Amino acid sequence: MRGKLIVGNWKMHGGLAANSALLVALLAGWKSPADRTVAVCVPFPYIGQARDALAGSAIAWGAQDVSAHVSGAFTGEVSAGMLAEFGCRYVLVGHSERRQLHGETDAVVAAKAAAALDGGLTPVVCVGETLAERNAGHTPAVVWRQLDAVMSVLGGRMTLTVLAYEPVWAIGTGVTATPPEAQAVHALLRARLAAAGAQGISVLYGGSVKAANAAELFAMPDIDGGLVGGASLDANEFLAIAAA
Ligand code: 13P
Repeated sequence: MRGKLIVGNWKMHGGLAANSALLVALLAGWKSPADRTVAVCVPFPYIGQARDALAGSAIAWGAQDVSAHVSGAFTGEVSAGMLAEFGCRYVLVGHSERRQLHGETDAVVAAKAAAALDGGLTPVVCVGETLAERNAGHTPAVVWRQLDAVMSVLGGRMTLTVLAYEPVWAIGTGVTATPPEAQAVHALLRARLAAAGAQGISVLYGGSVKAANAAELFAMPDIDGGLVGGASLDANEFLAIAAA
């Protein structure tokens, strides 16, 4: 269902002591207005730590990846059921770093989204074009292809997901899509979601979101919040983004 959502993606950062300080600061600073949800997606080993710190609070937690499989001989993988057992509510699937560095195809991303739903998690499905694809005018074709792959597997269950548009050229670069640039792609994605009756889900923007640009991005009609990388590691920055 469509609602404001701000998700921190810690990526492969942190450690017990740093996480503890960050979680304590988030809990102390988050005023939790009723109109939005805040979550952090932490590295696998720290999900228990996040649960212990955040259980019963207004901040949800989740993971950054999930296996497409339920169980079995899949060394190194973590299933949706395992994540659910640790109270995870969200899991990122298809982040560009997984697609680019770990060879995840559209089909794998779709299978992971399905596995997440089967395990009771909300998949945050990430799509986005590279700079070369954007410069070639291929942005709509790329993000539609990535989205269609997931919709074709999930069908009507697409309504149970969150979509995140993360232009690859804006991730970790300090270069943010301008609010109108991001809005244009969000509008394309939302229109496409209608094919699965899912135009009413939350569509997040990600890529160099900061306290200084969050409000103008989130003010766009088809942007429902953010997927925040680097700035989610700084409690004050992340809290300001969440409040934007
Ligand atoms: P940055 O906010 O660091 O650009 O990262 C975005 C991202 O990849 C979130 O998933």
